[in-house]
Amino acid sequence: MVFWRVKPLDKILETAEKKSLKRQLGPIQLTLLGIGAVIGTGIFVLTAEAGQKAGPGMMLAFVIAAIVCGLAALAYSEIASMIPVSGSAYTYSYGVFGELIAWVVGWALGLEYGIGAAVVCVGWSGYMNGLLAANGYGLPEALRTGLYAGGTFNLLAFLIGLAVTVLLVIGTSKSARVNAVLVAIKIVALTVFIFLAVPAVKSGNFEPFLPGGWGSPLGGVGVLGAAASIFFAYVGFDAVSTAAEETKNPNRNIPIGLIGSLAVCTIFYLLVGYGAVGSVGAQPMLGANGLPLDPGTAEMTAACASSQALVCSHEPLAHVLRLLGHTSIGDWIGIAAVLALPSVILMMMFGQTRIFFTMSRDGLLPDVLSKVHPKFHTPHVITVITGLVVSFCGALFPVGKLADTSNSGTLLAFAMVSLGVLILRKQQPDRPRPFRTPLAWVVCPLAVAGCLLLFVNLSMTAKLVFALWAVIGLAIYALYGYKRSQLADSKAG
Ligand code: ALA
Repeated sequence: MVFWRVKPLDKILETAEKKSLKRQLGPIQLTLLGIGAVIGTGIFVLTAEAGQKAGPGMMLAFVIAAIVCGLAALAYSEIASMIPVSGSAYTYSYGVFGELIAWVVGWALGLEYGIGAAVVCVGWSGYMNGLLAANGYGLPEALRTGLYAGGTFNLLAFLIGLAVTVLLVIGTSKSARVNAVLVAIKIVALTVFIFLAVPAVKSGNFEPFLPGGWGSPLGGVGVLGAAASIFFAYVGFDAVSTAAEETKNPNRNIPIGLIGSLAVCTIFYLLVGYGAVGSVGAQPMLGANGLPLDPGTAEMTAACASSQALVCSHEPLAHVLRLLGHTSIGDWIGIAAVLALPSVILMMMFGQTRIFFTMSRDGLLPDVLSKVHPKFHTPHVITVITGLVVSFCGALFPVGKLADTSNSGTLLAFAMVSLGVLILRKQQPDRPRPFRTPLAWVVCPLAVAGCLLLFVNLSMTAKLVFALWAVIGLAIYALYGYKRSQLADSKAG
């Protein structure tokens, strides 16, 4: 039965050997790749969106999202160290749940990484447009935002997507070196922000603390709605696991990369969130009914027209410092974001290409997608296709809606990995586990529950796009992957 067309773990490891990428990444490079993927649009841009949904209570949203990600990272580490091959949650699901669920997870990862890369393209374009305008080179309004975000074509989001695609085709090691420099820039920028904002914190700025309440059954509002969105700020550490086939000594280095990068980012976020909320306040713009307006709507834009509120800013961290009187340092934070956000696009796109590379190697997507470039040793065909899709999504859609949509795919993948750890503990208790999730029978069910909670609290648009994407994916599987799968020949189904 197709549900249980399970790929034995030994076979997964063997297939990876046949068509493998060069092992060149060590633990520090890997942790840097993780941090490079994690710190990005979430903290630099979506902080305003979270403030609009939750007010000062967004601090709790940062904590809730960190807890869910932390639990999932513990599960990821066990399974990624057991199965150190490209493909991340997709590959793990293939070995545990079988082909159909693996397909659904791989397809959902397309949303996570592909749409996630587009989110960061849009975030980058916001900061870059701001810098250009400040220096008298502003683009026409219609070219600053996408067709479905109030403009026509977000030109800079499109161009940055293409530029990153070229970097990825040229090769991982060169890209990783560039990434290390950009990670340093982000760390310095956030550190400066913390040192300037935290001493300016006033207790009055935390009142009222929960103007948006905790949430609603339909999602998209309150602390839980903010947690579901700001979850994007933590996403990316799992991209480390997609580099498993290119990692030296993956059994040791993958857990270090996953947990290390998440821990560093969490500490920074909590301090940045506290500094931003406490120094200038984060009260939402309220509608006629007294409830926070939905970010990204016409009402919100109108309410923000002449407002200096944090929740209205498209560059909240720079904005906070300017409000505190540090104008030129605020501008430098903007420059840091412009320089560093491309490293996030790079990792997201890297993850996306490696997932589809692996799915193609398994026969579920056309073989041409797993072609490796003879000179650069990178999967160039899938990289170019992904780059074009990412660039066009960034050019057309608004940042907040893209972020929620990306999160829907991530939450599914995290939940599946956490369940997979428990199933493997039962099915294959003796298989070597270089890293064991501590208290797995508590940690993994909590991770699944946390993912469900955040998923329910995503905006309705994101949940609908997720459902539509799943239906399209299942149709493709039924018409193509089911027959072409490597496992079809062996009649494993
Ligand atoms: N966590 C990454 C970001 O916030 C994806 O941009």
